[in-house]
Amino acid sequence: MSLLSTKHLLGINHITREDIELIFKTADNFKQVINRPIKKVPSLRDVTIANVFFENSTRTKISFELAEKRLSADLVNFSSSSSSVKKGETLIDTVNNILAMKVDMVVMRHPAPGAHQFLARHIDANIINAGDGTHEHPTQSLLDAFSLREKMGDLSNKKIVIVGDILHSRVALSNIYCLLKLGAKVRVCGPPTLLPKHVGSLGVEVSHNLAESLEWCDAANMLRIQLERQEDKYFPSLREYSQQYGVTIPILKSLSKEIVLMHPGPINRGVEITSEVADSEQSIILNQVENGVAIRMAVLYLLAGTSK
Ligand code: CP
Repeated sequence: MSLLSTKHLLGINHITREDIELIFKTADNFKQVINRPIKKVPSLRDVTIANVFFENSTRTKISFELAEKRLSADLVNFSSSSSSVKKGETLIDTVNNILAMKVDMVVMRHPAPGAHQFLARHIDANIINAGDGTHEHPTQSLLDAFSLREKMGDLSNKKIVIVGDILHSRVALSNIYCLLKLGAKVRVCGPPTLLPKHVGSLGVEVSHNLAESLEWCDAANMLRIQLERQEDKYFPSLREYSQQYGVTIPILKSLSKEIVLMHPGPINRGVEITSEVADSEQSIILNQVENGVAIRMAVLYLLAGTSK
């Protein structure tokens, strides 16, 4: 069995192109498995996984749980809102208590950037980052790139624009690292207030012009406006934002070619994209969600292999 170069999945910045290709190859196999009448394999029997979520989630949490069940792992779910974290228990104490119950892998979402790196220095289990604040969301970018590859083939020299709230987005940073490692050309587009000052130094193009960026790209990843992370006002109103940076059917029809539309979810319908765009033939949003299970099965399976 081929192995990943790392024991943990802390971020895409920490893994190689070969790791990404191996995850995709493994996910191709698992995608076949989950489309069979019997969707379960015994690969992670006797492996126990804790899903530890200090922030809300729909897609990522359900998708990890399903991936674990399809691999026959034992799983426990922890949500900070109904735990002793509310009584002041620290992250390290919380996780050590879970590990004392003989847990092998920890899937964690945490609001603090770098929380997973901190944990990896203190515990022995495999750690998978399911989102750390505004930093990285590695499995989201893997399923995004996997879905794009499925739709458009090899991503070398394909042009991908990431639109919107780049400043607060862990999806944006992981997508930038992942797509560049796969040889794609990447552009970020949004109002100046929502683009980090030095984002160009990551190797991406920077634009404030949506129409020109959509004409340039093969695929557009429309990010959610993260109002919950915005303490200041970054644009006058949602209405004005959607007029400048929202994608509508007339805008798509005005382009010289058909582009692919993505969104990591949850969608603010009518803000980043209209309902008609979200539900159109050009949208691969539900393919992204479907592929999330196969990608997470691949990550769990391959990381479990690094501990044997
Ligand atoms: N894309 C994503 O991370 O969605 P959730 O917050 O619902 O997990």
